[in-house]
Amino acid sequence: MLQQFDPRNKELKLYVNGEIVHRDQAKISVFDSVVQGGDAVWEGLRLYPEGIIWLDRHLDRLFDSAHALAFENVPTRESVQDALWETLEVNNMDKDVHIRLTLTRGEKITSGMDPRLNQMGCGLIIVPEWKPPVYDNSKGIKVITSTIRRNSPLFLDSKIHHNNLLNNIQAKIQSNVAGVDAALQLDKDGFAAELNGTNIFAVKDGTIYTPYAKACLPGITRGYVMELARANNIRMKEDDLSLTTLYTADELFCTGTMGELTPIVELDGRKIGNGKNWMVTQLNGYFVQDRSEHCVDAKTRV
Ligand SMILES: Cc1ncc(COP(=O)(O)O)c(C=O)c1O
Repeated sequence: MLQQFDPRNKELKLYVNGEIVHRDQAKISVFDSVVQGGDAVWEGLRLYPEGIIWLDRHLDRLFDSAHALAFENVPTRESVQDALWETLEVNNMDKDVHIRLTLTRGEKITSGMDPRLNQMGCGLIIVPEWKPPVYDNSKGIKVITSTIRRNSPLFLDSKIHHNNLLNNIQAKIQSNVAGVDAALQLDKDGFAAELNGTNIFAVKDGTIYTPYAKACLPGITRGYVMELARANNIRMKEDDLSLTTLYTADELFCTGTMGELTPIVELDGRKIGNGKNWMVTQLNGYFVQDRSEHCVDAKTRV
């Protein structure tokens, strides 16, 4: 399903490097590292009526990614949160919002790869949009397996949530050409890593399986779903999952902040299970019931 422009987003105000400006006026320098080399890290956050879900975990991952990439002069956690809440307030946003929070290595004194050319501190961009979950989770999605392998730590560690998204975008192009919703990417050994923008789970005989976080982003929703399963006495296991394991699963589903929990009804033309999606429906019930515990509002700093 292709996302459409939501007219509520026409007059958005965005945060760019210390200023809040109308989307038409939002600009960054052509010398910014994100333009020069995709040299930035990011988080996708979701605002529910109760607040932003797992803000602490998202900020941990953002700052860990920046640290792994040796960013310098990183803004404080406090100042990032102040900017975030201020931007939501200016837009009168209280739910159904997805926020793209990007921290770049900042502007360079001259074009080039060397991080020593970054002498002006990091850049911070906050783009909040009215955006309910992007998939029809009652219907589910169709997926193909991409020929593009997901990065392993051998090349570019998928644990860093960076803006160098071409690995995933190439896989997404293959799913577009195939006329389906998303692409599964395998790891270097041929086991499932994740979909191009979400984590994958399989259900077999009452046990839930997900790939080890070897070549996937350790998604915040992935971690939460694993915790929800264990808290509700559902067997949950990380494992190497081959395509045959996935084709013959009782259920497949994927997870992410953008789309929440989404059944995968078809993989490479094979129908998955009996189409009842019992486990993902059950997990989604736990998710809806429990999530307010993990949402924070503007009064809270994490
Ligand atoms: C490649 C990839 N996998 C999985 C996810 C889902 O992660 P999360 O649950 O933290 O949103 C994302 C989200 O940005 C992603 O980019």
